[in-house]
Amino acid sequence: MSLPPSRPPLRVAVLGAGTVGREVIRAFLERPGSLATGDGAPLVLAGVAVRDLRRARAGGVPAGLLTDAPAHLVASPDVDVVVELMGGEEPARTLIAAALAAGKPVVTANKHVLAHHGPELEAIARRSGAALRFEASVGGGTPMLSPLATDLAADRVRRVRGIVNGSTNFVLSEMARDGRAYDVVVSAAKAAGYLEADPRADVEGQDAANKTVILARLAFGQWLDPASVTRCPLAGRGAGRPGISGVTAAEVAAAGTLGLALKLIATVERLPGGELAAAVLPTAVARSTPLGRADGVVNRIEIDAEPVGRVAFEGPGAGGGATSSAVLADLLRIARGEGSTWAGLPAGPRESVAAAPPGDPAGGWLALLPPGVELPPGVEEPGAKPPGVELPPGVQEPGAEPPGVRATATPAGTALSIRLPGDAARALVARVRGAGADVTLYRVEEC
Ligand SMILES: NC(=O)c1ccc[n+]([C@@H]2O[C@H](COP(=O)([O-])OP(=O)(O)OC[C@H]3O[C@@H](n4cnc5c(N)ncnc54)[C@H](OP(=O)(O)O)[C@@H]3O)[C@@H](O)[C@H]2O)c1
Repeated sequence: MSLPPSRPPLRVAVLGAGTVGREVIRAFLERPGSLATGDGAPLVLAGVAVRDLRRARAGGVPAGLLTDAPAHLVASPDVDVVVELMGGEEPARTLIAAALAAGKPVVTANKHVLAHHGPELEAIARRSGAALRFEASVGGGTPMLSPLATDLAADRVRRVRGIVNGSTNFVLSEMARDGRAYDVVVSAAKAAGYLEADPRADVEGQDAANKTVILARLAFGQWLDPASVTRCPLAGRGAGRPGISGVTAAEVAAAGTLGLALKLIATVERLPGGELAAAVLPTAVARSTPLGRADGVVNRIEIDAEPVGRVAFEGPGAGGGATSSAVLADLLRIARGEGSTWAGLPAGPRESVAAAPPGDPAGGWLALLPPGVELPPGVEEPGAKPPGVELPPGVQEPGAEPPGVRATATPAGTALSIRLPGDAARALVARVRGAGADVTLYRVEEC
């Protein structure tokens, strides 16, 4: 019996030795046996690029592997595969593009670069034939993208939705757990390392919007413009603040009294007219459902597709160790000769398109009137048509709750459950009396 011919090793360059990069490097140094595939090429660490050489050496990266010139490392004839874990826009985008153009496979966790330059990078990868893999860019250590792109490739996806930002889920979970104010919990999350010193990309929903763009590419074959993903909830005066940045402790508490949990839910779905709607919005879901129960830095994605039905993935959405798991798995796939994360799917378009705003939510809206703020008289009975608000024909689904407004007294104020189209719901809360601040409408989604 003849043995299979042994393959030459693939020499791997890692760009970045921070939270994730350091764990990838550690795997190469401390457990190289776990990076052997049996049926693929061996993987060896050929170099590591950082800005601060001294810090990387102090962190245990061998001096002989280190450089502060990532472009030279990418171009080196002694490097076959590039792992980009620097983050941010530049030089990450240029380095990924250069590696792919040179025919070198790339593994990255960089959701910002993928969401903003996906069409360009896909075109370069397809032209050169080099694989671009990015499992760690969504869901951290929880595999979601490869199953979506490969195991569900024969299905027709209707909707992808879920919790894709662990930091904001941690903040909302803590607010619900002990009633602390948003600012207090955000400060604690920064101190615990769950949020950056400048947390805007997380709390304003940009990070989740980038992940939504990546999910849309694999689920629906479209690159969406991340700026077009809706991130501001409706409010009486127009739009609320983006992401979770406007959510108050009182709103979280009132939702809890009604058996609901506020979660930052990312959604992309095909509308009846064919366009894709994409949103990242604080959303009320029943506490008893899997999304409502997913607390802490966890991520959870639900994919509704035909004919499979609903498939869900839940697990750690961040952290160096967990995220390195997805990066290393992508490296092993490359060692086995597998292609890009989208391999097997039709080529994506050369340009991003704008996402449509989401349609009205199946479960209506939730709004909190703080103490001292009142509804106009006569609108609070279920089934009552709010004065001055016209309901379009066919608003009421068979068997659904009648359109109208139900008011529930909670310790945090009056919670309104509103079963009206978005425009009518907004017109209603624009007319509350005594409002010192704007009233936000949270989507209520049925799970
Ligand atoms: N952290 C997570 O839990 C997580 C989860 C999922 C995905 N991701 C993604 O993974 C990527 C890496 O995240 P991270 O948290 O590991 O980042 P990080 O801790 O900030 O580390 C970044 C690393 O890249 C290096 N770097 C940055 N710019 C550089 C440049 N111009 N030249 C050379 N080196 C440079 C830094 O070097 P110096 O230290 O010398 O400055 C540092 O070693 C990001 O795209 C992030 O979105 C992270």
